Amino acid sequence: MTTKRRFVLSLVAASVLAGLAVAVQIPETVTIDKAQKKQAPVVLTHKAHAEKYACSTCHHNHENLKADSSIQVVPCFKCHLDPEKPETLSMREMSLGKNPFHKLCIDCHKKEAKGPVKCAECHKK
Ligand code: HEC
Ligand code: HEC
Ligand code: HEC
Ligand code: HEC
Repeated sequence: MTTKRRFVLSLVAASVLAGLAVAVQIPETVTIDKAQKKQAPVVLTHKAHAEKYACSTCHHNHENLKADSSIQVVPCFKCHLDPEKPETLSMREMSLGKNPFHKLCIDCHKKEAKGPVKCAECHKK
């Protein structure tokens, strides 16, 4: 290997390591649209929620997720769009009890008596 090539490779390695040490980027908003068919996509005011509630309230698969964690967050749709097991809630469902977002989001909005609970308040055309 030439010295130049080795230098370039070590730069790549260094930036990969630096990348790993950087905290997760908390999105300001996220548009949830992977299951979109009958309804319009849903915009979650992500940062506002993330400042108020523990990350794991929603990211239940990352137990100790924090604003300064440096892990790769696995998005919900990876497991909830076409779940491996039939009993896992699917984002394609309309029913309130069978869709993971309907269950999680609407339950909390009802409990807090704040936040959208009507279809068109989330599925904005
Ligand atoms: C708190 C927000 C929220 C409310 C209120 C809500 N939904 Fe949803 N719903 C979602 C999210 C998020 C998804 C996943 C969207 C995606 O991935 O495209 C979804 C998915 C769906 C889907 C499957 C995807 C599709 O487009 O076919 C249907 C059908 C649906 N909702 C119907 C309804 C109906 C009917 C109501 C009212 C009774 C309702 N939703 C109320 C957030 C909400
Ligand atoms: C109210 C629920 C909720 C809370 C609280 C929350 N998130 Fe999220 N977060 C989501 C949803 C929903 C998505 C979109 C996932 C998808 O596209 O399937 C998301 C996406 C993300 C993403 C982008 C993942 C990707 O690659 O698309 C990161 C990073 C993230 N959240 C970090 C955090 C951190 C860190 C916290 C706590 C400080 C937090 N979240 C709190 C619901 C939440
Ligand atoms: C790595 C895969 C994976 C990811 C990523 C994931 N989930 Fe789940 N989720 C599951 C599985 C499997 C279950 C069913 C078993 C269980 O309850 O742990 C589940 C259960 C749930 C439930 C039902 C809990 C109950 O009370 O029955 C909700 C709601 C939910 N997930 C929402 C979300 C949301 C919102 C996100 C993203 C912020 C997310 N999940 C990310 C795999 C995942
Ligand atoms: C643990 C409780 C909780 C969960 C889970 C939750 N929310 Fe909320 N959400 C709230 C509260 C409380 C408000 C009202 C904030 C206010 O008015 O100050 C709110 C408000 C909102 C609003 C109105 C804009 C704003 O930020 O005030 C949207 C849109 C919203 N939520 C979408 C969602 C979606 C989509 C999900 C599921 C991915 C979700 N929420 C999950 C508690 C929650």
